[in-house]
Amino acid sequence: MMLPWALAILSLLPLMEAQKLSCANLTATPITNATLEWISGKWFYIASAVRNPKYKQEAQAIQADFFYFTANLTEDTVLLREYPTVGDKCIYNSSYLKVQRENGSFSHHEVGREYVVYLVLLQDPRTFIFTAYPEDKQNQGLSFYTDKPEATQEQLEVFHEAMACMGMQKSEAMYTDWKKDQCGPLEKQHEEERKKRTEES
Ligand SMILES: *[C@@H]1O[C@H](CO)[C@@H](O)[C@H](O)[C@H]1NC(C)=O
Ligand SMILES: *[C@@H]1O[C@H](CO)[C@@H](O)[C@H](O)[C@H]1NC(C)=O
Ligand SMILES: *[C@@H]1O[C@H](CO)[C@@H](O)[C@H](O)[C@H]1NC(C)=O
Ligand SMILES: *[C@@H]1O[C@H](CO)[C@@H](O)[C@H](O)[C@H]1NC(C)=O
Ligand SMILES: *[C@@H]1O[C@H](CO)[C@@H](O)[C@H](O)[C@H]1NC(C)=O
Repeated sequence: MMLPWALAILSLLPLMEAQKLSCANLTATPITNATLEWISGKWFYIASAVRNPKYKQEAQAIQADFFYFTANLTEDTVLLREYPTVGDKCIYNSSYLKVQRENGSFSHHEVGREYVVYLVLLQDPRTFIFTAYPEDKQNQGLSFYTDKPEATQEQLEVFHEAMACMGMQKSEAMYTDWKKDQCGPLEKQHEEERKKRTEES
């Protein structure tokens, strides 16, 4: 009699765990020092869903991507060192993002355009979401990040719930494929260069 009872409880668990995200939580919240300390580190870009045609095309081209955030709490900037793989090549780049604490956004200035993304914190601190143009159905987008190269099924479900909150279909999601990463060697080289510099100084 033990076993069927245990099975019955186990089979209820997935039901009880469902709906991890309330759509109200998808709005950006102000960014604090604690947020900036938490987000500093290494992250992996797992998936996105993007309506803006130009940004969608850019997102589609990314085969794999990881990056480091280093926040400066006095300047309200975040140094982004990014290692995307595009066309089977690693295209490393670094830049500074400006933090707008009050509206929970990170912005990136380029000649002629400014990207603004809003930080959405999730219950699982090993994940987060950026949204773009959240109120604009033609251009809206969101992207999903984790602290490991591959997301768990459970983490992906939260991303799919977030997409649903924005009125997007699951089929609109684009995923990276960690097996395609070409940036590992360059990251290693950068780490060794940094080690050498700190040893010399
Ligand atoms: C943050 O920026 C200020 C001003 O540029 C600089 O003096 C400081 O060293 C930076 N802090 C860190 C942790 O990089
Ligand atoms: C945030 O951190 C900076 C740098 O350490 C500090 O100057 C500032 O007072 C902190 N802000 C708050 C609200 O704690
Ligand atoms: C690096 O980023 C800057 C600013 O976003 C951009 O102008 C430049 O073309 C990028 N370099 C490469 C090699 O992609
Ligand atoms: C949030 O701040 C950024 C940077 O100042 C700005 O570009 C953006 O329009 C602001 N968003 C809202 C909703 O106010
Ligand atoms: C969502 O918001 C509710 C109420 O504000 C809060 O209790 C809950 O912890 C939040 N969930 C997440 C995943 O942040």
